[in-house]
Amino acid sequence: MTDKPEGPNTGAASAGRFDKYRFFLKDHIRQRVDFRQTAQNRRLPAPPLQKSCPADVARIALPDGAESMERLCRLSVAEAVARRESVRAYTAEPLSLGELSALLWSTQGIRRVISPDSALRTVPSAGARHSFETYVAAIRVEGLEPGIYRYLPFDDQLARLFVDEQTGARAAAACLGQRFVAASAATFFWTTIPARMEWRYDLAAHKVIALDAGHVCQNLYLAATAIGAGTCAIAAYDQNACDRLLGVDGEEEFTVYLGTVGKR
Ligand SMILES: Cc1cc2nc3c(=O)[nH]c(=O)nc-3n(C[C@H](O)[C@H](O)[C@H](O)COP(=O)(O)O)c2cc1C
Repeated sequence: MTDKPEGPNTGAASAGRFDKYRFFLKDHIRQRVDFRQTAQNRRLPAPPLQKSCPADVARIALPDGAESMERLCRLSVAEAVARRESVRAYTAEPLSLGELSALLWSTQGIRRVISPDSALRTVPSAGARHSFETYVAAIRVEGLEPGIYRYLPFDDQLARLFVDEQTGARAAAACLGQRFVAASAATFFWTTIPARMEWRYDLAAHKVIALDAGHVCQNLYLAATAIGAGTCAIAAYDQNACDRLLGVDGEEEFTVYLGTVGKR
């Protein structure tokens, strides 16, 4: 057997239509970026760490997320890791606001504010850029009318965006008819605002945004398991339908990943 030379496009399988998508997973892009010219190094202002919220949008105060998690957590880390699984069948029991807050904090809560341009959260993120916003399709959450809410992690609040009795059905339809979405108590939609990552990494931003999303959802799995709930990651969804449901523009902010949550 002869060694094939290292490098792009060496094998028949990679010489075709997969090339540009495989390229995305590699790190060649970093050599093509002139990091002296990034927005950060040109001293352009950093995009805000949290999307702004219009003054006329109602806000709901959340119980402290870290304290809620501490109080509700029934398992050790080892047990949560061992028991983690995708759960697609839920009881009719609602989530309490404390449970929702514990899950939001576990996935995107603020750990420490470093400066106006940088904050650390409960999950890692390349360059601590944290490009995600979390939207919750609340279907059965105590104290919340069914609807779409946005987590404001710097304020420990939810912004109430749309109230709609049909939220479960609409969320399921936006997930290509995956019926367990409608049966969830809440479904988390994670959008990215890529400019937050592009500010620092320019063309090398996009792979790390995708990597970052995995950490967020894994924390949802572990935290949900630990509080006696279940979750299932969702990456099969209708892009336009999800973006419309959340009211985001689909260009500067768009859906990248989802996770359902319900009691077991
Ligand atoms: C990136 C990603 C996307 C997924 N998308 C879906 C999905 O759209 N619908 C679904 O039912 N499960 C989805 N899943 C869940 C997987 O099917 C599940 O993780 C896999 O079957 C292994 O099962 P386990 O999580 O119980 O170990 C997804 C999981 C990941 C990590």
